Amino acid sequence: MYVTIDGIEKSFNNENKEQVKVLDDIDIDLEKGSFVSIVGPSGCGKSTLLYMIAGLVQADKGNIRIAGNEVRKPGPDRVVVFQEAGLFPWLTVLENVKYGLLLKKMPKQEAEAKAIDMLKMVHLSNYIHSYPHQLSGGMKQRVSIARALVMEPDILLMDEPFSALDEQTRMVLHKELMEIWKKTKVTIFFVTHNIREAVLLSEKVIVFGTRPGKVKEIIPVPTTTDGVLPDSVTLHTEQRILAILEEEIEKVLKEEMGDDYSFTTNHLHRNDSGDMGSHI
Ligand SMILES: Nc1ncnc2c1ncn2[C@@H]1O[C@H](COP(=O)(O)OP(=O)(O)OP(=O)(O)O)[C@@H](O)[C@H]1O
Ligand SMILES: [Mg+2]
Repeated sequence: MYVTIDGIEKSFNNENKEQVKVLDDIDIDLEKGSFVSIVGPSGCGKSTLLYMIAGLVQADKGNIRIAGNEVRKPGPDRVVVFQEAGLFPWLTVLENVKYGLLLKKMPKQEAEAKAIDMLKMVHLSNYIHSYPHQLSGGMKQRVSIARALVMEPDILLMDEPFSALDEQTRMVLHKELMEIWKKTKVTIFFVTHNIREAVLLSEKVIVFGTRPGKVKEIIPVPTTTDGVLPDSVTLHTEQRILAILEEEIEKVLKEEMGDDYSFTTNHLHRNDSGDMGSHI
């Protein structure tokens, strides 16, 4: 297996200096070139696991191996795309995308050519000399994806990359990401709160439970030869995931709200965009 996450455990100290277990006995395998999503209640440790794959956070127990090598620190084979694009405001789009390549001491012309190619892939050719403040949220996120991909990583780690975007922009970026994935065959590990997004994009959805975060179930997303899933299949898969999560979300709400919990149960149903609100 390409990525092996084996027996991961992680605790953090909370404000009262008590140890709280965030991840418990996490075992996940990722195939090379796969697109896997992870959904789960807020605070169940999704980002923590993603940072561990990135090498930014160390596990207390267990290990993560990529192509057989244990992850101990960040490396050029893995890049993270966050919810906020995090671009340098004083650099143009092109300069932002080139930045990492120049740090790697790539010759200027080669870096520029690569950055321009990548910006073409995310359909930003007409904006390469713009500054981040001149771009829409969706465009900024495209720059951020181009900046990540230009490094030619083996693994793209995406932590709610589209959650700050409006629905239409999100749909456009879904399409672009699918094209990029098919073209580059980069392995994608995608954290989201949006069940529909997870089902539309990925081959497998890992459903996390809380607390501590545990893998509740891994749901394969049915595929078709033309890559277009009938709505009924998408909906059925979404409902399956929702059913698993509902129990977990209730657990979180009860814990957080105590007696007020009964007022909120009516709001547990998925809204039109597939989002479950702030609790998953
Ligand atoms: N560096 C840290 N120090 C202390 N506690 C932390 C740290 N990082 C994360 N936590 C805690 O670990 C738990 C899991 O956090 P994490 O950000 O991984 O959850 P998540 O599933 O990504 O949540 P969300 O869906 O809201 O983004 C939370 O309770 C969080 O407060
Ligand atoms: Mg998170």
